[in-house]
Amino acid sequence: MCGIVGIIGNTPVAPQIVEALKRLEYRGYDSAGVATLEYGRLARCRAEGKLRNLEAKLSQSPLSGHIGIGHTRWATHGKPNETNAHPHATDKLAVVHNGIIENFRELKAALEAKGVRFETETDTEVVAQLVTYEMRQGRPPVEAVAVTLPRLRGAFALAFLFNGEDEVLIGARHGAPLAIGYGADEMYLGSDALALAPFTDDITYLEDGDWAILRRKGADIRDASGAMVQRPRHKIPAGSFMADKGNHRHFMAKEIHEQPEVVGRTLAHYVNFSAGRVELPFELPFDFKDLKRISISACGTAYLAGLVSKYWFERLARIPVEIDVASEFRYREAPLEPGELALFVSQSGETADTLASLRYAAAEKLHTLSVVNVPTSTMARESAVVAQTLAGVEVGVASTKAFTCQLTVLLSLAIAAGRARGTLSAEEEKELVDALIAVPGQMSEAMKREHDIEILARELSKAKDVLYLGRGTAYPLAMEGALKLKEISYIHAEGYAAGELKHGPIALIDETMPVIVIAPFDHIFEKTVSNMQEVAARGGRIILITDEKGALETGLDTLATIVMPSVHPVVAPILNSVPIQLLAYHTAVFMGKDVDQPRNLAKSVTVE
Ligand code: AGP
Repeated sequence: MCGIVGIIGNTPVAPQIVEALKRLEYRGYDSAGVATLEYGRLARCRAEGKLRNLEAKLSQSPLSGHIGIGHTRWATHGKPNETNAHPHATDKLAVVHNGIIENFRELKAALEAKGVRFETETDTEVVAQLVTYEMRQGRPPVEAVAVTLPRLRGAFALAFLFNGEDEVLIGARHGAPLAIGYGADEMYLGSDALALAPFTDDITYLEDGDWAILRRKGADIRDASGAMVQRPRHKIPAGSFMADKGNHRHFMAKEIHEQPEVVGRTLAHYVNFSAGRVELPFELPFDFKDLKRISISACGTAYLAGLVSKYWFERLARIPVEIDVASEFRYREAPLEPGELALFVSQSGETADTLASLRYAAAEKLHTLSVVNVPTSTMARESAVVAQTLAGVEVGVASTKAFTCQLTVLLSLAIAAGRARGTLSAEEEKELVDALIAVPGQMSEAMKREHDIEILARELSKAKDVLYLGRGTAYPLAMEGALKLKEISYIHAEGYAAGELKHGPIALIDETMPVIVIAPFDHIFEKTVSNMQEVAARGGRIILITDEKGALETGLDTLATIVMPSVHPVVAPILNSVPIQLLAYHTAVFMGKDVDQPRNLAKSVTVE
């Protein structure tokens, strides 16, 4: 995740941009940079490392322009050096970027075929060269950006500054946040309101697909189609920033919508986008090829992420996996062998049951690897290896973005294990990594189903009991959907293996019980269709979560069918987390529940 800023002012903007970037350093600090117009001409100052290095350079050679953009980087594509530092520029423009352009390789190849030469290995430079190419065809800046944006795939936010144009900045949002700030005869762009707080509390949050043309007198906001739109202006009360819900009613909603960005950021920590391979950001004190077994232990949603990964480790790396809820793990006295791998998953890194399991495994001399979201947590400190999720602070008690980031890390580990054990070829690894790279953009696309899901949630809110069904990796996802629903709406819900329905739960089926079936079109889809037919034959009302092909092949009347983007089967559980989270959220909101702090629960259960 990176931080971006833009200012059209009436005094030198470089110091203000640096001030804003300091507030965005939590988003990354591999390098930083500023671009301004000096007497109408583009000028840049960039530095590797922390912001203070940029400040030192600027104090030596100040920039005095009254319009500019800035960036603090968390490297995704390309080493964290000055060459790859933003802003990236051509003779026509400078651009700063947060997120991932997942189709940058094909766009770059097309430009190189037209003779365009690149200086860096970043996806951002591809955006700069694309807009520049359009301007060389005679298009003015606004039009050049307008024709470029639809060609970009992924989750990103952008800010543009144009040579010789000291009255216009352009910002664009697609899956990563971007806010506009209104000043006195000044205008601002920023990754969040926190960055703009020193200048204004009058903020508009762009919505997904929006882009905005900023001039000193104000901003024209357009949607993805290019139509002019109005977005609400918020007065952000001072001191509310760390608890900033953005333009969402609840933290859970904000965190669901942050997933394209934070899954992309987590992914960037584990894969090399240019090479299309997993590159773990840490050394392992063992070799996957020597492992005879992995023991996974976690609680709640984190346990279900672990259960999804069991399928991945066993299928991709052929490693036997045992998994327990942490409260059972150490009491069943499983025969463990020193040198095996004990893997723990925890958002907080403080869950008492999981921490106790970690200590138990360490005492048995197993290698310990923890997937945690809090790098300073007790589990992080006590684990031999820490695989960090970069979900950012998760405030909502119901875990959402941490779950999909956990899945992202676990799949990266399973792919690395497969490569080490020779069960995945380089081509198979690249196919899986490319599928992972596409997930943030697909999650962004999946959010467009939210309105339909909100309407469906009103129907679901009438239920007393709900059944979730799934096969393969959709089975733990069915349990996660049930957990999300029950913990925030208090409706009783169960997640079941679809094949198990006929061994008992089918007795529950009647027209009063909604049955939510998670079934992307894959090699076991037909089996799940049979289970749906068993439900329909007994008057059960089915809500189907599938993809285009699944929707066509089902041939069943459903209460509703949520059609998701078609994705590689391996990454389907990451993408399909979005509709089950949104369904639970909107059901609980409609029922007037305390979504962020449900009764009886705590964000981190630090007692056994
Ligand atoms: C998930 O929505 C729940 N809030 C809960 O099950 C949670 O996942 C569990 O308590 C584990 O927490 P941890 O990830 O911090 O260890």
